Amino acid sequence: MSSSDILKIAVIGGDGTGPEVTAEGMKVLKAVADMEGIKYETKDFDFGGDRYLKTGEILPEGAVEELAGFDSILLGAVGHPDVAPGILEKGMLLALRFAFDQYINLRPVKLYPGVETPLAGKGPDDLDFVVVRENTEDMYVGMGGFMKKNTPDEVAIQTAVYTRKGCERCIRWAFEYTRKRNKKKRLTLVAKTNVLTYGHDLWWRTFQDVAKEYPDIETDYNHVDACCMWMVKNPEYYDVIVTTNMFGDIITDLAGMLQGGMGVAAGGNINPEPGGTSMFEPMGGSAPKYTGKGVINPIATIAAASMLLEQAGHEKAAARIIGAIQSITGTKMKSQAAGKMGYSTSEVGDLVVDAL
Ligand code: IPM
Ligand code: MN
Repeated sequence: MSSSDILKIAVIGGDGTGPEVTAEGMKVLKAVADMEGIKYETKDFDFGGDRYLKTGEILPEGAVEELAGFDSILLGAVGHPDVAPGILEKGMLLALRFAFDQYINLRPVKLYPGVETPLAGKGPDDLDFVVVRENTEDMYVGMGGFMKKNTPDEVAIQTAVYTRKGCERCIRWAFEYTRKRNKKKRLTLVAKTNVLTYGHDLWWRTFQDVAKEYPDIETDYNHVDACCMWMVKNPEYYDVIVTTNMFGDIITDLAGMLQGGMGVAAGGNINPEPGGTSMFEPMGGSAPKYTGKGVINPIATIAAASMLLEQAGHEKAAARIIGAIQSITGTKMKSQAAGKMGYSTSEVGDLVVDAL
């Protein structure tokens, strides 16, 4: 067997409860890999706040080059109480998204059986859509500056950058994904064309152009504010949403709560090109107050491990994990909230393994 048949996974537990949840994600991945005959190898990396406080480095020299040799990264969490907000997020999470040109941020929104949603009268059949968030442009590029800083005349500029190439590759991927998903076959562009008449006009025109290649996909458009309204009122309407980086960030926190909270929501930062390195993560943070207590919910990270396998072409194994999650949320777990699950973090991992 050539080495390319072996899936190479880098594990970055990161900060706070990150290592606890990645341990469960990898436990489930190992179990399903054994059952499905998937060959893989892993390496742990200790990047995160503790290492930064000791060494002053977030991603040490050579880290990106080494990680580039992996197919996938499973990331636990970034965020440390002793490190100012933004340092680790920019220095690790955003740095890796940009370094590996992970231009798709895929965030499935799925209400598992037995999981409580804050939406009255809605159930698993009503909440099953996917957000495709562009992941390399927009206000996230870090272009801007200050003038007359710390004076009453201060000016701050933060530039949203959109390119034809950047939006086209994301939009095309979203059309392909909608076709492959084969559910409602509806792709909704979420933007703000009535105000962002340059940047989102580019998105709008590109969406119309690419749509011509996909006559089997119904196209649809929502302004982002209306999307927030519809997501709460009629979430069953959505199939796949494609949107810009910043709007995608915001609407997926709303969507995450609708699917039962940050203990459940998973995401993939995907570079779909051959040889690309993709990164999968639970959407929740490092939850410092729960660190080391064994009470954090690992379901989101286990779902992220499923996304990792799916992206690596192991669709059956990926589906098996989601099936196991659905069976235990529906029959065993009392809640998806930290400390209220009725089981410890590692017991939830064991339950998923038993249900595979
Ligand atoms: C997310 C997070 C990040 C983002 C932060 C931590 C930089 O909110 O993954 O949604 O804004 O993308
Ligand atoms: Mn976010």
